[in-house]
Amino acid sequence: MASLPLSTIIIFFCTVTLVPLAHSVPFVVLHGISDKCSSKEVTRFTELLSNWSGSQGYCVEIGDGIWDSWTMPLLEQTAIACEKVVKLFGNRFLFVLLAIEVKNMRELSEGYNMVGLSQGAMIGRGIVEWCDGAPPVKNFISLAGPHAGIASIPFCGSEWFCIFVDTLIELEVYSAYVQEHLAPSGYVKIPTDIGAYLKGCKFLPKLNNEINTTRNSTYKERFASLETLVLIMFEQDSVLVPKETSWFGYYPDGAFDPILPAQETLLYIEDWIGLKILDEAGKVKFINVTGGHLEISDSDMKKHIVPYLEDEASLHMMATETSFYTRLSSIWNFMLDLFGLAQDQPLLRPMD
Ligand SMILES: *[C@@H]1O[C@H](CO)[C@@H](O)[C@H](O)[C@H]1NC(C)=O
Ligand SMILES: *[C@@H]1O[C@H](CO)[C@@H](O)[C@H](O)[C@H]1NC(C)=O
Ligand SMILES: *[C@@H]1O[C@H](CO)[C@@H](O)[C@H](O)[C@H]1NC(C)=O
Ligand SMILES: *[C@@H]1O[C@H](CO)[C@@H](O)[C@H](O)[C@H]1NC(C)=O
Repeated sequence: MASLPLSTIIIFFCTVTLVPLAHSVPFVVLHGISDKCSSKEVTRFTELLSNWSGSQGYCVEIGDGIWDSWTMPLLEQTAIACEKVVKLFGNRFLFVLLAIEVKNMRELSEGYNMVGLSQGAMIGRGIVEWCDGAPPVKNFISLAGPHAGIASIPFCGSEWFCIFVDTLIELEVYSAYVQEHLAPSGYVKIPTDIGAYLKGCKFLPKLNNEINTTRNSTYKERFASLETLVLIMFEQDSVLVPKETSWFGYYPDGAFDPILPAQETLLYIEDWIGLKILDEAGKVKFINVTGGHLEISDSDMKKHIVPYLEDEASLHMMATETSFYTRLSSIWNFMLDLFGLAQDQPLLRPMD
């Protein structure tokens, strides 16, 4: 233990100092396609949620934002986001583990909440299911997430890039080339072309545990252990086809109608990812709000997102804050013992 590097100790002590300031678990925002963390809308969105909930919010950027959100395959985007989340919360998590072990300090909740916007909700779900080494996600709030797939590419426009995109799609959405160069092709599910989808689509079949021969129960376990899943659908959403995909509703295999509610899809009935477990436990909130794609009002944010970012544990922690310092000092002493430092020695003595 005495050989732990100085930087590790500094990180530990910094984390200890931060804990009483942070009254609730942090949250992460993942933006949608054609967007970036530094855009006015995403900045405002993250700030408002942070201000209203009293929790610290982090927008996690992937690559350069807009361009990469279009062109980087989603498996890759998810891996990058996972790495960033581990970096953000990894040290805190390590500390919490230690703290729980030592003093059973449950107030220091060992997790974080996640807010995913559209494509960002898919990356977020990828983190929940696949991200090793990150603390668990507690509440997952999805705004217009194309969870069951989309039957056409999101509206782009008539700029050269969009013409390029349309050409690619016409070319062959499930070809290796399109899958590698156009992020949303990872969740295009043409109901009349399911064979090609299962074979060629690189992201959604894996995320939804759709292929029976490679189904992984770990994904299901992790997704099913969410505390709350909030699925927000926009009533006038014309970007997601069908908009019910925000609630895991979709077309049956082989036809473009009817739109099946989540509960009538195989994903739910055979429970490939634990959606049924969550729903039967009353942990899924199917929310319907007025507005076009991602056009959420401030009042709906307050009603449907903020309550899941405020942590009950934080109230408890504030109430016990005086005793918190007592416990903090015993952890402090434990750390000193752990690293072989006597109490009268300089705190950050270089180790040899
Ligand atoms: C959030 O609160 C800070 C500090 O009170 C304030 O400066 C900022 O403008 C608020 N953000 C928004 C988007 O209202
Ligand atoms: C299932 O996924 C977990 C987590 O990513 C991984 O550790 C495990 O090896 C996978 N199992 C199989 C059979 O692929
Ligand atoms: C997997 O699905 C295929 C096609 O639907 C089916 O023929 C096969 O029996 C299934 N295998 C298992 C192990 O369920
Ligand atoms: C969503 O809400 C509107 C009005 O509030 C309602 O007309 C519509 O049927 C709802 N959609 C679903 C799927 O519940």
